[in-house]
Amino acid sequence: MMRSSSLYTTALLLQAALAVTINEITGDRYISSYAGSQFTGLRDCPDPDDKTSNSIYVYGSSAAKSVAVGDIITLSGKVTEYRSSSSYVYSAEIESATDIEVVSIDNTVTPIVIGKNGISPPTEQFTYLDKGDAFSLPGNSSQVSTVNPILNTTAYGMDFWQTISKANSYGDTWVVGDWTVSGSNARGGLTMTANDSNPEALLVGSPLDGSENPTDVKLSDTLADITGIVTQAYGYYALLPTTALSVSASKTTAVPKTSLVSNQKCLLTFGQFNVDNLGPDSTTLPAVAGHIANELQSPDIMFLQEIQDNSGSLNDGGMSVSFFQAYVTLSTLISSIVEQGGVQYDFLDIDPIDGTNGGESGGNIRNVYLFNPATVALRNANPGNSTVATTIGSGGALSYNPGLIDPMNEAWDASRKPLVAQWERADGRNTFYTVNVHLTSKYGSSGLEGDLRPPVNGGEAKRASQTKVIADFVTTLFAEVADARIIVAGDFNEYSCVEPMSVFSGVGLQELDETAGLAATERYTYLYGAQVEHVHVNTWMSSADQSSDHDPSVAKMNVCQ
Ligand SMILES: *[C@@H]1O[C@H](CO)[C@@H](O)[C@H](O)[C@H]1NC(C)=O
Ligand SMILES: *[C@@H]1O[C@H](CO)[C@@H](O)[C@H](O)[C@H]1NC(C)=O
Ligand SMILES: *[C@@H]1O[C@H](CO)[C@@H](O)[C@H](O)[C@H]1NC(C)=O
Ligand SMILES: *[C@@H]1O[C@H](CO)[C@@H](O)[C@H](O)[C@H]1NC(C)=O
Repeated sequence: MMRSSSLYTTALLLQAALAVTINEITGDRYISSYAGSQFTGLRDCPDPDDKTSNSIYVYGSSAAKSVAVGDIITLSGKVTEYRSSSSYVYSAEIESATDIEVVSIDNTVTPIVIGKNGISPPTEQFTYLDKGDAFSLPGNSSQVSTVNPILNTTAYGMDFWQTISKANSYGDTWVVGDWTVSGSNARGGLTMTANDSNPEALLVGSPLDGSENPTDVKLSDTLADITGIVTQAYGYYALLPTTALSVSASKTTAVPKTSLVSNQKCLLTFGQFNVDNLGPDSTTLPAVAGHIANELQSPDIMFLQEIQDNSGSLNDGGMSVSFFQAYVTLSTLISSIVEQGGVQYDFLDIDPIDGTNGGESGGNIRNVYLFNPATVALRNANPGNSTVATTIGSGGALSYNPGLIDPMNEAWDASRKPLVAQWERADGRNTFYTVNVHLTSKYGSSGLEGDLRPPVNGGEAKRASQTKVIADFVTTLFAEVADARIIVAGDFNEYSCVEPMSVFSGVGLQELDETAGLAATERYTYLYGAQVEHVHVNTWMSSADQSSDHDPSVAKMNVCQ
């Protein structure tokens, strides 16, 4: 009792003795040393220290009612650190504001111009608590809120962006301004590379004047100057513009088409595409088919993920035995590919037991191969099923072809089982293997600009157990056939420089992007195995125009050497 009462007295004495400014409240760390304190007569008195903020959010409508833009005011209140989720960083704000007095009106607010006068965001690291790598493990080894570091606005992105309010609405456009950036790719985006997660990008939220941002902004569009306030929205630093964004220039980028085509029997082409919950009635189906036929130029073998069953996402369990099969989805897709000038594919998949593959409820997504029977064939076809594991026999023969790798292993609970196939050229010569992969998603990850450092990488432990099952299979194959040709491709739900992807190089696989010498900044969607191209038909489209949330890729490889 004595102790708390004396602390209270000390706080009151402090306020009586000091005229607190906004800079002093916000301070040079994340958490205000004034949190929980009452103060009176607050006025701003900007200091030159770029670690402290010159602005603060006043919570509640009472303040807003009595002031207008351009007013200079004084007020009293209480300093609070607020966040709407325990995985977000706190923002200092003032609550219970009283004694609001307008001292003068019609003052001009001059915004700070980012990108000028040495004010530019750091380009690689978010906070020193990540120890150089925002994707190192384990996540949540520390929290910004408990360590409360002194800000370093030149080295760390989270220390540069400072909030002055909390968000009141959504925004979903990421921008970079006229400042130094790292990781630029040829299409005007920023690619994450090892130890460089691009803190210089800023999320723009809904305009403060009630207008609406355009929804058709595309990657690489140029926007007119944006004036606004920086805030925290859903765990990210975000800028709320004073009025709606306007696009000042848009590149008329031609739809990219792969150059990797082959009419030589030894050089086969392989395509990879996560088709984002594709069912027979999906509105995106013609566009997906068109991309395979035209931009990808009908690869000999297509690896697909997220093919839904015949009823799409409808959960019609029990209505018919065909409800978890996908032949309607696949024959519709194949017909559409042919109609748009592509080859007449055959397909291979293994129907899951209803509801066991994770993903959209009722969709029964699975991994599928489309293959061109004029160029490739299964070697000794003997399809497996959803419960039996395919194993490698003498000489590398698969017990089931195609088959699933260890489908009953708990690593695959509520997840897609990898689909393996052994192939030969259509004339029966040469053989190679493919593994079509769709690992567990990153659901449950904490934000890159959140409190938990390094951020929690959702699903990482599960992906690690899944990659181990695949790596063990590859090891067994190499033990049986030392010079086996195997392509492991699909949607790994992970950045290539992040664990557990290194497991694959440990068992003798090479990353195709590396092998093909693709610039790190151009590796912004994914394939293993040479030549490779990522065909950016979706990343630069407006949301309404994209056929999937992923870009497809094409590789060309020699299966005879
Ligand atoms: C990333 O940073 C970590 C920690 O500083 C370091 O150990 C690692 O070698 C770096 N990786 C690359 C590819 O630079
Ligand atoms: C992060 O770590 C803190 C401190 O150990 C713990 O209280 C919190 O629950 C953790 N959060 C997550 C999402 O792991
Ligand atoms: C900020 O970090 C950089 C790079 O680590 C370092 O050189 C600099 O001294 C730091 N500045 C402060 C004020 O700590
Ligand atoms: C899969 O095949 C194995 C071996 O023929 C059989 O024992 C099992 O019942 C089959 N499972 C299903 C779900 O059909």
